[in-house]
Formats: sequence, C-alpha cells, structure tokens
Amino acid sequence: MQIKQVKTRPFEGQRPGTSGLRKKVKVFQQPHYLENFVQSTFDAIGDFAGKTLVVGGDGRFYNRTAIQTIIKMAAANGFGRVRVGQGGILSTPAASCVIRKYKAFGGLILSASHNPAGPDEDFGIKYNIGNGGPAPESVTEAIYACTQDINAYRTLAADDIDLDAVGSFEVGDMQVEVIDPVADYAELMQSLFDFDAIRTMLAGDFRMAFDAMHAVTGPYAKAIIEGMLGAPAGTVMNGEPKEDFGGGHPDPNLTYAHELVEKMYGDAAPDFGAASDGDGDRNMILGNHFFVTPSDSLAVLAANADAAPGYQGGIAGIARSMPTSAAADRVAEAMGLDCYETPTGWKFFGNLMDADRVTLCGEESFGTGSNHVREKDGLWAVLFWLNILAVRQDTVGHIVQAHWQKFGRNYYSRHDYEGVDADAAARVLQNVRSQFDSLTGQSLAHRVVQACDDFSYTDPVDGSVSSNQGVRILFEDGSRIIFRLSGTGTSGATVRLYLESYEADASRHGLDAQDALADLIAAADYVSHLKQLTGRDKPTVIT
Ligand code: G1P
Ligand code: ZN
Repeated sequence: MQIKQVKTRPFEGQRPGTSGLRKKVKVFQQPHYLENFVQSTFDAIGDFAGKTLVVGGDGRFYNRTAIQTIIKMAAANGFGRVRVGQGGILSTPAASCVIRKYKAFGGLILSASHNPAGPDEDFGIKYNIGNGGPAPESVTEAIYACTQDINAYRTLAADDIDLDAVGSFEVGDMQVEVIDPVADYAELMQSLFDFDAIRTMLAGDFRMAFDAMHAVTGPYAKAIIEGMLGAPAGTVMNGEPKEDFGGGHPDPNLTYAHELVEKMYGDAAPDFGAASDGDGDRNMILGNHFFVTPSDSLAVLAANADAAPGYQGGIAGIARSMPTSAAADRVAEAMGLDCYETPTGWKFFGNLMDADRVTLCGEESFGTGSNHVREKDGLWAVLFWLNILAVRQDTVGHIVQAHWQKFGRNYYSRHDYEGVDADAAARVLQNVRSQFDSLTGQSLAHRVVQACDDFSYTDPVDGSVSSNQGVRILFEDGSRIIFRLSGTGTSGATVRLYLESYEADASRHGLDAQDALADLIAAADYVSHLKQLTGRDKPTVIT
C-alpha cells in the first residue's frame, strides 16, 4: 500500500454550518479543498483504526468524485472498512440507519440537502457520529479548528473502485463494501409500520402520489411504495435521481414541489400526496386540497402514534426546534409527556434520543423523525401518515381538523428573505434586539409582549450551551415572532421570520394562515424594518 502525504495549506471558511460544510461545487473543486476537510475530520474524531466508515450521498454532481477521494483517504488514514451505497447513493436517513445497524465508527454524508445541484450549484459534506446522527458542535468545532492549521493530508495511490457493482473490494489494507442503498432502510421501515394495512388500503380506492423531485428518494420510494406496498407504477413521480436534480430545487414545500401541489389541488386530486427533498430527510404531506404544516404533522403523528406497531409501546417524549410551532407541546401535555425545545438543526435531538428522553422530533422546515435513526426522515413520515390513514380510515383533512378541534390550532408561517445583503440581515436582528427592553410589557399586534430574548439552549443531557439561536418576541397569549439567520445558505444571507398565533376557538380554524397572522406579520416589519433594510417588498418563499 502506497500512502502519500500531500502538502496543503488551510482554506478559510471551512466551518460546518447547521448541517455540515456547504459550498458551491466550484469551491469544492479547488485542489485540496475537499481533502483538507476530510483530513481535518479524521484528525478530529479520535481513534478509528480498523473501524468502519459509512459513505454515501444524494447523488448530486461531484458525489462520485468526492466518494473516490474519501475512500482512498479513509484507507490511508487507517479505517478498516468503508460501507458505501451502490452508485454512491445513500439518503441521509438511510446513511444514519446503516451507521447504526453495522455499528460503524461514523459516516460521511455528501449532500447539500435541497439546494440545487450541478456544476455551478451546491455541494456539501457532513460527518455523522456512531449513533448515526450529525456530529455535535463540540466535534464540528474540533473539525473546524483542524481545518485552520492543516499542513498535509494522507491518501493512497490506488485506482478508483467500481461504485456500481454491489460487492467487496480491497483498497490498500481496507475493505470496501458496496451495498444496496435501499435494503437495510426498507427492512427498518417494515419493522415500524403496518405494511399489511397500508397494502390493503392501496389495493382499494385510495390513491396517492409521491414526488421524489429527481433526487435521492426515487429508488427508496419505488422499492417501498410501489414494490413492497404494491402502489401502482407511476405513483412515484420524478423517481430517477439526476446529478442536477433535473434542474429543479428539490425542497418539498408549496413553492418548489409545484408539480405535486398542482396535482393535489387539481380536479380528481389523489387522497394523499407527499414529497421529499434532495437527500431524503425532509417531507411534505398533502391531502386532497389540503396542506399539512410540518408543525401540525409532528403533532398529529404524536397524537396518533399508537396506530403504528413500532410506537405502540408508547412514546417517551417529544422534541421540536424552537421556531417550530407549539402544536406538539399541546399533545405532549395531554399525553403527559415531556416536551423539549431545542435550537434549529437536527443535531440537537441526538442527545435527547440517546438518553431515551424523546421518541418523536420535528422541525417546521419539513423535518420529522424518530429514534429509529438519528436524522429526520422523509419517507418515514410518509409511511407513518399512510399507516395512520389506513388505521383511521379517514381523510388527511378530517384528521387534521379533528386534531385542531381537540387541541386548538397553532396558526403558523415562515417567511424567508433569501440571498439578502449580510450586513442588512444582521441589522434586522440587531434592530429587534435593541428594543428588547422597550417592547416588553407593551402592546403590539393587539397583544401584550411578555418577553423578548435571544434564544439560548442548555442541553439537559451534557450541559452544553448554545447561544444566539434566534431573536424572539414572545406574547402573553403564546403568540411568537422570531427572527433567525439561516446557517445553510451558500450565497449572501437569508433572514427567516417565523410567526405563530394560537386559536382555541374551532369556529375560527378555517382561516388562511397569512390572514390569521396578518397583524403579527405587520408588527414584525414595523419592529425590524426588515423590508426597508433588505430592499425587498415581499419574502422569497412563504411556507
Ligand atoms: C434549515 C432549516 C433547519 C434544518 C436545516 C437542515 O436550516 O431551517 O430547520 O435543520 O435547514 O435541513 P437554516 O438554513 O435555517 O439554518
Ligand atoms: Zn435534506
């Protein structure tokens, strides 16, 4: 085995964000850029000699190139084995599943999630630890520190391996197993949900559509929904993963999943529609002419968890990210469960799940999941909904409306101002911050401001503190206005404005969310000067 020690110099800006290191492909293509980050990761994660590394990605442009580089570097750095998905494919939840099932030391997941793909678009890499979840901040900061004083990386003079053939290969002293990317994941799904009940429902009048958006979930959805569950061929739309995601923006929301949205709001709409994102961890749930907000979806899954065999023993608790609506909190309270409020990003749920404090977790950003893996999981949410629909024998719309009647409705919306000037974005938040004292106790948007703060979280398991996680205006009636800067963008800054208002009165549950939130939306702009400072007259995306 011929190990090469290659000299290099640090690159600026290799600090992992909300979900790993994301940059333009062109940035990753600079000589040594990817290698520096991979070597820094290996240097930061401890003693993995002889252990297993899982590698796979969402199939976007540069996935295959990056995987060949990583395999050689893993061999040169002393890993015993790499498990890589055939074709370089592993959805993010499937990677988490494989890491856990085979007790790997960790994994490298290649994805920029829903960000567009292609030579001029985005690429990303993140490290997941042995529990299958994203590395915690202590690890990502250690990786970042290594990127700042790296001077060499180790690799191997070896041929590329054939990623398209399932089988075993040797690279230096290391084994490479090219595995079926779907099999382990599909087996896990079958162990959690009542596939027989879903199969029976799909064999009847029930009709559904799943939009894989030309991204990684195509092969998973075809194998599970059309294969194991017997839905008719064609149920999975855009099911061939493409390196540029078909030129689209595979983010399952009302703006970007428009093909599915048109179907679900058209004549003869199916009973159920769902979509997943680039790397398969997000989901959007739709009924016939009905959109389920991700915050409501988490609450409904929690309230109906006993429909699914995998959760019939009861759930331990629920966690949601801070900007996610408090709909799940009401379910937790009614069920006598603990409910946790964490900063944005799935990595904060890992400790809670490992400590058995929570079973279900969710984020407003179309992320839902459970302790079956340590990532959010798009197809899992879809199968959970199908399981509930099969057991309840009711429509999506009725199930959600009945839920509101019982628990009240948390009107909710997120307004994104994408690609704005970074200084202007910072000033928006600073404006609000500077009024914390003067706003408190005052009346705003026909409500009384109870408190204002910069959200800070102390992990109840390891005591670690994460500060500056969003600027909040909290009202006495439970309504909230929250401002946050995105940590996943690759150009300019993105301001996220989150708005929430609780309505107990069932006669007022039929409003459009933007109408119900209009006074909060106006108040948010009044306080922050968001539109004036960013030079935008409306958000880029409203969800
Ligand atoms: C966004 C979402 C966040 C999610 C993350 C990764 O992060 O808001 O909930 O965990 O993508 O999918 P942000 O860009 O807001 O930092
Ligand atoms: Zn994703």
